[in-house]
Amino acid sequence: MAVSAHQVLGDAIDPRLPGLYRGKVRDNYDLPDGRRILVTSDRLSAFDRVLCCIPFKGQVLNSVARWAFEQTADLCPNHVLDYPDPNIVVGRRLEILPVEIVVRGYLAGATSTSILTLYRAGHREMYGHRLPDGLADHQALETPIITPTSKAADGAHDEPLTEGDILARGLLSQAQWRQMSETALALFARGQALAAERGLILADTKYEFGIDAAGTLRLADEIHTPDSSRYWRADTYSQRLAAGEPPDSFDKDVVRAWVAARCDPYKDEVPEIPPELIWKTALTYVEAHERITGRAFEPPAPAPPVRERVLAALGDFHGARTA
Ligand SMILES: Nc1ncnc2c1ncn2[C@@H]1O[C@H](COP(=O)(O)OP(=O)(O)OP(=O)(O)O)[C@@H](O)[C@H]1O
Ligand SMILES: [Mg+2]
Repeated sequence: MAVSAHQVLGDAIDPRLPGLYRGKVRDNYDLPDGRRILVTSDRLSAFDRVLCCIPFKGQVLNSVARWAFEQTADLCPNHVLDYPDPNIVVGRRLEILPVEIVVRGYLAGATSTSILTLYRAGHREMYGHRLPDGLADHQALETPIITPTSKAADGAHDEPLTEGDILARGLLSQAQWRQMSETALALFARGQALAAERGLILADTKYEFGIDAAGTLRLADEIHTPDSSRYWRADTYSQRLAAGEPPDSFDKDVVRAWVAARCDPYKDEVPEIPPELIWKTALTYVEAHERITGRAFEPPAPAPPVRERVLAALGDFHGARTA
């Protein structure tokens, strides 16, 4: 079944709201009173572009992040103020710190900044850590490590950093780095424990932190979602590792693989993506919601014109301009 424009949230552009910033996945508004509205769209972004929209993806991400923010609030305060719509979180606007904190518990990943890619290319020193020889693909590290990257400005690629780089370049103060790295490891340990209760392995994840008006460090953006994290099935992990196979994951990258097999995704026009691939991916996100949170995903009923619903919810903020 083809995906109609009414079934997905491609954008949530509302010209009546101030301070629009379009991220790859979220459309954001900064209100003059210090709040930031983050609308999680259904955009699937890869290769520095939007490939397509996946039904329910935005709502799944917002709901998983909500659950994980609640599960970790004792470890670190976060930006959340309110959830006025299944696709929206209203947060405190933070000054986002210019380092993305990636925590990795396993030798995994396929991008140029992933430790598996670097390890296979013969590197043992990475991000200020030294990994031992003889690790198998997807093997657990002795202890989780932080592999920070610069939070690149519009369009630029993230760049690997070491603690030394971060301090030498003044990206963070020593105290900020210490607090962020300790907090990130504690959050990751909690994420792994919660995943384990659900028969999952949290292999790695990414955190963004910011400072609020009072100078408090808070978690921003999203946490432990299928977009920001790599989850594997625990029950088949050892067996697959022994067989030299990659772990079972929520295979949400089928669209990406399909596109990459047919064109140069950085240069060529992307061919039309078959609807069955899009629906398969939608189901994968819904399944991920249930597996990660242990709660059924509740698609809005009756089937919504999702963009109209979101714009109606945004209407509640229109007065904010004059506040
Ligand atoms: N509480 C907050 N205050 C200020 N900025 C925030 C907050 N939470 C998230 N952000 C920023 O809002 C944006 C969210 O949009 P999205 O997640 O789509 O961006 P992204 O594609 O991951 O990153 P970007 O497009 O900025 O490279 C990000 O730039 C993120 O850093
Ligand atoms: Mg983001």
